[in-house]
Amino acid sequence: VAGRVALIAGASGGIGSSAARLLASKGYTCVLAGRDEAKLAEVAAGAGGDARVEVVPLTDGRAVIASAARIVRDVGVPDAIVNCAGAGTWKRVDETPPEEAVSMMAAPYFAAFNVTHAFLPSMLQRRRGVFVHIGSPASRFRFPASAGYSAARSALRSLNESLQADLRGTGVKSVHLVLGKVETEYFHNNPGVIEHIPAIARIIPTLAPDQAARCVLHAIERPSREQVHPVLLRLFWWCYGLTPWLVDALLGRG
Ligand SMILES: NC(=O)c1ccc[n+]([C@@H]2O[C@H](COP(=O)([O-])OP(=O)(O)OC[C@H]3O[C@@H](n4cnc5c(N)ncnc54)[C@H](OP(=O)(O)O)[C@@H]3O)[C@@H](O)[C@H]2O)c1
Repeated sequence: VAGRVALIAGASGGIGSSAARLLASKGYTCVLAGRDEAKLAEVAAGAGGDARVEVVPLTDGRAVIASAARIVRDVGVPDAIVNCAGAGTWKRVDETPPEEAVSMMAAPYFAAFNVTHAFLPSMLQRRRGVFVHIGSPASRFRFPASAGYSAARSALRSLNESLQADLRGTGVKSVHLVLGKVETEYFHNNPGVIEHIPAIARIIPTLAPDQAARCVLHAIERPSREQVHPVLLRLFWWCYGLTPWLVDALLGRG
């Protein structure tokens, strides 16, 4: 993949930083985008190679457009874009202040929308490239007490569905990559999540960040509409298509 460019949006920690390290080790020129310059620089130094940092508020669409123009000019059109910026805790609607609901939509949903919007024209022109959107089981299952979190992940899943329709025949691909629990700082950064994960979900093995990064690499190399990891979660995912009431009942008792 020498000469290929990967842009990781939300690369300062968690799944994004692991994906950046793996992609750099595979020969990608990585652009690590996000808002925290110091953390991004640390990840870039650890990734080695020619990883570069792009400090940009991903939730500001106009700033992302300007940043994309710079990246395309200085580094090239990305071959792969990984949307993994995201935050948000788990609460019921009545417990969620309206401004917190807005910030939960800001990342992952608006961050992913902005990045996709900004780079799509140049990727379409080149008729090549893959978007990978890091999604959650909450984009499909109805978890109790996860209103803002689930809405943002469902919006991300819908974005991917729309892209499926729009990108047919263009050479550009889009993947909704659904991961079960990944052992990152997410649960420290977003207090209150771990306590709300239904008990039944705990039987699904937790992924290490390196495993999540390998799932990202697989999605880039073999893009398909939706990919779900690990296997046991995939089983629940399929079951939901056949017997949603059963999965809902199991999750509702968490
Ligand atoms: N960990 C899991 O179990 C898991 C499983 C499935 C899906 N996911 C989803 O994957 C995404 C990333 O999770 P993670 O585990 O990597 O989390 P993490 O370790 O907390 O990292 C979150 C990343 O998103 C960035 N970010 C958060 N809010 C942002 C905002 N408003 N604007 C710009 N950047 C922002 C952070 O940047 P800063 O350093 O600047 O804050 C950081 O780079 C989330 O949407 C999460 O729901 C996670």
